Amino acid sequence: MTSSSGGVKFGSKAGFILATAGSAVGLGNIWRFPFVVGENGGGVFLLPYLISVTAIGIPIMVVEMAAGRGSGKGIVGTFAAFSKRAKWLGLLVALGSLVLLSYYLVVTGWSLGYLAFGLAGRHPGFDDFTEGANSILFFLASAGITTLIVSLGVRGGIEALSKILMPGLLLLVVGLAIYGLTLPGRDEALKFYLTPDPSALANPTVWIRALGQAFFSLGVGMGVLTTYGAYISRGTNLVKSSAVVVAIDIVIAFLAGFVIFPIAFTFGSEPGSGPQLAFDTLPRAFESLGPAVGYIVAVLFYLALLVAALTSAVSLLETVAVGLRDVRGISRRVSLGIVLALLLMLGMPSALSYSGLGLEVAGRRVFDVVDTAVGTFGLPIGVFITGVTLSWLGSSIVSRGLESRARISLLVVWVVRWMVPFLIPILFAAMLFDSLRHRIIPLAG
Ligand code: TRP
Repeated sequence: MTSSSGGVKFGSKAGFILATAGSAVGLGNIWRFPFVVGENGGGVFLLPYLISVTAIGIPIMVVEMAAGRGSGKGIVGTFAAFSKRAKWLGLLVALGSLVLLSYYLVVTGWSLGYLAFGLAGRHPGFDDFTEGANSILFFLASAGITTLIVSLGVRGGIEALSKILMPGLLLLVVGLAIYGLTLPGRDEALKFYLTPDPSALANPTVWIRALGQAFFSLGVGMGVLTTYGAYISRGTNLVKSSAVVVAIDIVIAFLAGFVIFPIAFTFGSEPGSGPQLAFDTLPRAFESLGPAVGYIVAVLFYLALLVAALTSAVSLLETVAVGLRDVRGISRRVSLGIVLALLLMLGMPSALSYSGLGLEVAGRRVFDVVDTAVGTFGLPIGVFITGVTLSWLGSSIVSRGLESRARISLLVVWVVRWMVPFLIPILFAAMLFDSLRHRIIPLAG
């Protein structure tokens, strides 16, 4: 059996942790986390979120990585090692990554665009920014940059980049958070952000959003961690490593709240204003900070957002490209070229929907439809498919890759085997019910 990872391994344990943290820490932390917290009443959200990432998130991460290390292949090859039929499920998961990446790169493009405008001293509102062809141009540029990094290889591209960018990102976010704490809106912001509410533990909607955000932020359910798992050397403890990655992910998301909420409260904007928080609310605030401070804070903020986004986009692209190589014996380069072409085709409608053209389906922007379909509904489905397939069908490969029979390792697999198959359908039904009620699905309108 040849391995589609070509026997390539991460160069060091630190390199592996930073690359995996690079996948986890992304737009989900800096763009999505604060607005989801805002929409769900602030501090109320924190406890369900922490429980979701640790109790459910860590076990899924460990099982996904163990499967990759056990098989030495990407998500399609790993599934194919269990059975012929499972291979199709693997392809479905890889397809999910492809679609997710196609619109993730649109938001990565916005980050790049706002960084470019910020460097030129401009802070356009979101409508101004997306009026012309900016979404398309910067989407194309982001797709190009991501492909370039992946083409440099696992060690020379992904790992090398993460080793430089991730510590840099942490410094940027810490610096920005300290700045946030000097602003006059600080007290109000902290009260909103940090007041936990035990009664929220009984609110199913908060749990649904918390678990969904946990999946997105950790980057589970789309085959990414299985792909990276194939590059992890023997002897590295997966439970401990996942705990470190999750800790980094939590810290950066938590710090992002200290950046965004004080700015929002200081300039009187609504913290629950949704996805436009980073691309509309903040530019207005940067404008009010005056030319010098506004310039520096805006440039550093969008730089952080871009760095976070790129290291995540890279992980998704690697996953799809390796998945394709699992099916066809083609070179890395050819596979990347094919995936790039597919990405441009799939992402263009999303990019066009936030352009002068305003492309819509069934009265909603294509981007929003894809975001709901993949970001909200696709992820739990992906976690269900990978969790059930890996922990049941693939249990011997998973235990080989786990390399540990310590009680904690067995517990982790147990959680995926017995919790995920029940938890996800409940979550899913509740989510469907919730969104039909709010009519966010066009069919329900
Ligand atoms: N975790 C990243 C973020 O927070 C996005 C991401 C990377 C992702 N890989 C993933 C999301 C796999 C879901 C599945 O932005």
